[in-house]
Amino acid sequence: MTTTIPYPATVPAAEPIILAEGLTKIFSSSKRTGRFRRREHETADFTAVDGIDLRVAEGELVGYIGPNGAGKSTTIKMLTGILTPTSGVLRVAGHEPQRERVRLARRIGVVFGQRTTLWWDLPLKDSFALLQRLYKIPRERYLANLAHYTEALDLGPFLDRPVRQLSLGQRMRGDITAALLHDPAIVYLDEPTIGLDIVSKHSVREFLSDLNRRTGTTILLTTHDVADIERLCSRVVAIDHGRVTYDGSLDELRADRDLETVVRELYLGRSLVDTTE
Ligand SMILES: Nc1ncnc2c1ncn2[C@@H]1O[C@H](COP(=O)(O)OP(=O)(O)OP(=O)(O)O)[C@@H](O)[C@H]1O
Ligand SMILES: [Mg+2]
Repeated sequence: MTTTIPYPATVPAAEPIILAEGLTKIFSSSKRTGRFRRREHETADFTAVDGIDLRVAEGELVGYIGPNGAGKSTTIKMLTGILTPTSGVLRVAGHEPQRERVRLARRIGVVFGQRTTLWWDLPLKDSFALLQRLYKIPRERYLANLAHYTEALDLGPFLDRPVRQLSLGQRMRGDITAALLHDPAIVYLDEPTIGLDIVSKHSVREFLSDLNRRTGTTILLTTHDVADIERLCSRVVAIDHGRVTYDGSLDELRADRDLETVVRELYLGRSLVDTTE
């Protein structure tokens, strides 16, 4: 008699490095109604992220795009653990961001283009030294990374200057370095090219492309710049009113029209692909 060893019906695939299912964020704000002593509190709910499904494999560089107020930054804040989802499943590098924020911090890097995470009054290099301590980056690795980013992002001329004295482009390059010194597996970049001049934009783009290719770092990039998407993203996820309106390849997106037209349509809220199937 022969014994057959049953195979599992499906071979479990490796979990994506970013996994969101039905991710939702509802902001509640209380507003006062009524006059004087008869004031009552009424709550108004606003759904900023409305049931997003997202799977990103290790090493992908994904463009996360959509019009102002679509819910992009809110999503990124949930992915970092800054904001707690109202509902849904969320796992990043195997961690639940809101519950394991400190452990996750070692695996992720974040750049919010609109805001610096550096110490305003400290010279740039002192901010980096503090980050080395915070993340407990081994000295040799820290020095090698610092030397690499100083060269690649041309930080040398302003490493000794306080952050508050840096131009926007210089500060952004400092912020990008700060997000990468601890070799994160995933980097979220929320508008890293905002306000940069053409040459700086170009060098940031080339830098990110090289980082992704050389180290396999997974990158989720938010931008309103079509050239960033064109240069960097093979995959695009578009959202509007907190919902995914497109998730697919860049090539498919611009198969029969130029990218600018397609992006404009996406921003006007026209779903190009039926995602309900
Ligand atoms: N803390 C908050 N409380 C209440 N509403 C909020 C809060 N944060 C964001 N929102 C609202 O949620 C919606 C999504 O905001 P979010 O910042 O995620 O948009 P975005 O896609 O990043 O837009 P932009 O392209 O302008 O950066 C907006 O309508 C915003 O006003
Ligand atoms: Mg935003």
